[in-house]
Amino acid sequence: MTLRLAFDVYGTLVDPMGMAELLEQDAGESAEAVSALWREKQLEFSFRKGLMRVYEDFGVCTRQALRYAMATHQLPLAEDREDELMAAYLSLPAFDDALPALKALKGNYPLFAFSNGSYPALEKVLGHNNLLDQFEGLVSVDDIKSFKPDPAVYTYARRATGAWDEPLCLVSSNAWDVIGARAAGLKAVWVQRDINKVFEDWGIEASAVINSLSELPEALKHL
Ligand code: LAC
Repeated sequence: MTLRLAFDVYGTLVDPMGMAELLEQDAGESAEAVSALWREKQLEFSFRKGLMRVYEDFGVCTRQALRYAMATHQLPLAEDREDELMAAYLSLPAFDDALPALKALKGNYPLFAFSNGSYPALEKVLGHNNLLDQFEGLVSVDDIKSFKPDPAVYTYARRATGAWDEPLCLVSSNAWDVIGARAAGLKAVWVQRDINKVFEDWGIEASAVINSLSELPEALKHL
């Protein structure tokens, strides 16, 4: 049995909070808060659009969430600045542990990136951080026009990675993503990047919990 690995992208390999520094120009001391609200709303919009069956590219969720976050903080957002921030989202910084972990795992496991992001967005953000070449393939929810944590998305990931009869393990720092994958029958490792992050108590456990991707090779031996 070959265990395939499907890495979540935003929050797991690249850091959406990397936008905070750029937002200082717009929001000063509120930059971190705007950035956090932007990310929170981006996800909420994707959940709602999935549930309402009014799918739009994840980039649309991101743009609409940016507008919401700026408006909530009563900050102006000119059209060209919005475009600039959206372009910068395509070059979010990777977490320091991402590339070394992928390099350590490559050759031992088939590696995939599995994300709400569209293929062009994934190619850009992963390529920007030299992560793209580490993957055997990318899987975007765009193929089936729904979002995580729709179980159909995780089932699709099994098919798209060739893991139909073999185990597929999600690696994600997003607890809701881990719970979604587990509920759909996948293995899932939770990357608890922040020790204060709480895993929602739904009675659906992660297959393993790690604090950094550097711990992943060892954790996978015990799955
Ligand atoms: C992703 C988001 C959910 O990359 O982080 O799928």
